[in-house]
Amino acid sequence: MSKLATVLFSSTIIIALAAWENGVASNNFLQLQEGWKFKIGDNLDFAKPDFDDSDWKNIRVDETVEQQGFEDYDGFSWYRIRFFLSSSLKKNAALTDSIIFNLGKIDDFNQVFFNGEFIGENIGNVKRGRKPTNNFKDKDYTFWNVNRRYSLPIDDNLIKWDAENVIAIRVYDWGGAGGIFSGNLKLKMPEITEYLSISVEEEFESGNEYLKKSVTLENTSDAYQLGGTFEIFTQNNISEETHIIVEKTLKLQPNEKRKFSFSFPKPKQSTELFYEFKFDFDGKILKKSEGIPYILTPPTKPEPQINGALIYGERAGKPFLFRIAATGKNPLKFSAQNLPAGLSLDEKTGIIRGIVRQKGDYQVEVFATNELGSDRKNLEIVIGNKLALTPPMGWNSWNCWGLTVSEEKIYAAAKAFVDLDLANHGWTFINIDDGWEVKGNSEKPKRTSNEAILTNGKFPNMKKLGDDIHALGLKFGIYSSPGPLTCGGFTGSYKHEFQDAKTFAAWGIDYLKYDLCGLRDIMKDQYSSAELIPPYELMHEALEKIDRDIIYSICEYGNGKVWEWGEKVGGNLWRTTGDIWDDWDRMYQIGFGQLEAAKYGGPGHWNDPDMLIIGWLGWGENLHKSKLTPDEQYTHVSLWALLSAPLLLGNDLSRLDEFTLNLITNDEVIAIDQDKLGKQAVPIIKENGIEVWKKELSNGNLAFGIFNVSDANSEYSLDLKKLGLKESVILRDVWRQKNLGKFSGKFTTKIPSHGVILLQTKIAD
Ligand code: GAL
Repeated sequence: MSKLATVLFSSTIIIALAAWENGVASNNFLQLQEGWKFKIGDNLDFAKPDFDDSDWKNIRVDETVEQQGFEDYDGFSWYRIRFFLSSSLKKNAALTDSIIFNLGKIDDFNQVFFNGEFIGENIGNVKRGRKPTNNFKDKDYTFWNVNRRYSLPIDDNLIKWDAENVIAIRVYDWGGAGGIFSGNLKLKMPEITEYLSISVEEEFESGNEYLKKSVTLENTSDAYQLGGTFEIFTQNNISEETHIIVEKTLKLQPNEKRKFSFSFPKPKQSTELFYEFKFDFDGKILKKSEGIPYILTPPTKPEPQINGALIYGERAGKPFLFRIAATGKNPLKFSAQNLPAGLSLDEKTGIIRGIVRQKGDYQVEVFATNELGSDRKNLEIVIGNKLALTPPMGWNSWNCWGLTVSEEKIYAAAKAFVDLDLANHGWTFINIDDGWEVKGNSEKPKRTSNEAILTNGKFPNMKKLGDDIHALGLKFGIYSSPGPLTCGGFTGSYKHEFQDAKTFAAWGIDYLKYDLCGLRDIMKDQYSSAELIPPYELMHEALEKIDRDIIYSICEYGNGKVWEWGEKVGGNLWRTTGDIWDDWDRMYQIGFGQLEAAKYGGPGHWNDPDMLIIGWLGWGENLHKSKLTPDEQYTHVSLWALLSAPLLLGNDLSRLDEFTLNLITNDEVIAIDQDKLGKQAVPIIKENGIEVWKKELSNGNLAFGIFNVSDANSEYSLDLKKLGLKESVILRDVWRQKNLGKFSGKFTTKIPSHGVILLQTKIAD
């Protein structure tokens, strides 16, 4: 302890900043932002300190290599930097047991060499003496979004004090953007706060009235004792009230771990949970905070209630399948009046099947009844030319399983749709994304002797899988690419479009996601609509020739303004952007950036801002809980509903917690998305961190979200005239399914940072 106190004192001595050729030194770090050299290709000699890199290109580390003249480059590349390391760095530091390399985010995989020695790989140090191999890149998931941190003991003789040192980084980019891109690279001395880790259990355990949680404090140093005060408290983001849950004075010995389990009442509003450790010796505070999940959706009523889409389209003569979504105490009994000829309803399951031969707009009445009562809704069945008259709702394997998808995981998702009641709220599609095909570089045959596409060993029987999914009244989706290979390097439909459409029909496919990926290598300009249209049109023609209706989902990341021509090539939906991931900035950028395409979306032809990023996700084997806070998740789902976006879950349904379930079973929120007018919301107000997005509904009412996109909780007074509401209106809180009263002129509310209030109007009578 005393040693620590003295070193901390000495750290207050002010030292002059020294600028070296590469690297800017400060009292406890050396910035390595400028001076990096770059070369594409691969050669382990590039790791050698005396390798001559003078003809390499200068590169920035705060943007990807694609943004710096290496468009479309994927594969190996190297970064190198030479810099002078002054011993003043360690002399002036408070803590001197190790030196830390913060090398930013690297897309996708990397190895690090320091003065010629291999010291780190992907997200950790490597044992000294280990030889670098090529399998650092052979993963089913990427580390592109993880900050790289490596360390060496301070007395390691690899470090050359007051001399030149060289860092070389071998990078492998497996697709899309690549390289070091987050900036702020540095060599630094440790700080005391770095020795305390506060690790919070991901899951909140839910009791009836209480939430339980645990957190572990760990002193990760071998040398120092850490003393201080530890506090756990909650703060309500609306009332600002705080409640202390744990307050303790502690001394953690070197390497000591201490676990705290605690519980607190379930909040009913946006509330933050804080963990704070205040270090005795210098008063520094290490903080962590997280949003607490809070439930807004009222419990499902035991009385029957018909949910989901109230309009449904198929074409004449094609197999018809529609499951009436209804909740209520079991057993429910279904019936219908005026069903078009050719269809029959299973009164136990609510599944309508058959084939309608006669085109027409059929007004059907559907009923769900149980011992407590009955519900009746009008279902419009349109036998015409259009599919997807409301945005498709379902699940896709990509955001959780990535390329590790298997038949078993697809069965599990389908089963979860039924067992967890999701199908009864309108969730229908079970879609396999990339990873079902044979790998392009595999020795195994990719197609039969008749050129029919083959599945890999993880999908032994697609036809049976399709039949089993249909037996549940659910629909079956698949993925392919107009390129020879998919994004994950599997077999695509290039030059086999007609054959593949036929195979998909034989398997009972209802939905095809057709992802540009591999075709980009063949195209001259992936942003040219003239080049993009023909391959998408070709698959459209192929889908027209089969005797099934297959919803056509175009995925080419919004290139060439797909919204302007997607419908013409038969698209029922099209991605408007690159991939989404569970990060506020990314979700914000995509969701709140949908205005340009808005007027092109509508029944049968939807803009697709990508899948939902709620629940347990991970694009591979290691899943994590969505990094969006609960407020951000309410924003995400509310915005997607207002945007009439396809709602495709991407989470592991076997780990569906109470909060996520509440997000996806709110029938009034779903009804906004599934409204048959299909009019996409547009922003009406953007001021002081508030955005108001308004959507017109088929019954003449308005749905709108007041989004607080700023980083602070705020109060907002909405001028209802700006929404075109001159009369007094009844406003309904959609998530809580509660009328708030009659308003005229203004509506004032508090909204947590990154949160939303989702409202619906009714003209007051
Ligand atoms: C991407 C696509 C993702 C996913 C992935 C599969 O191009 O945008 O949604 O399908 O390919 O490899």
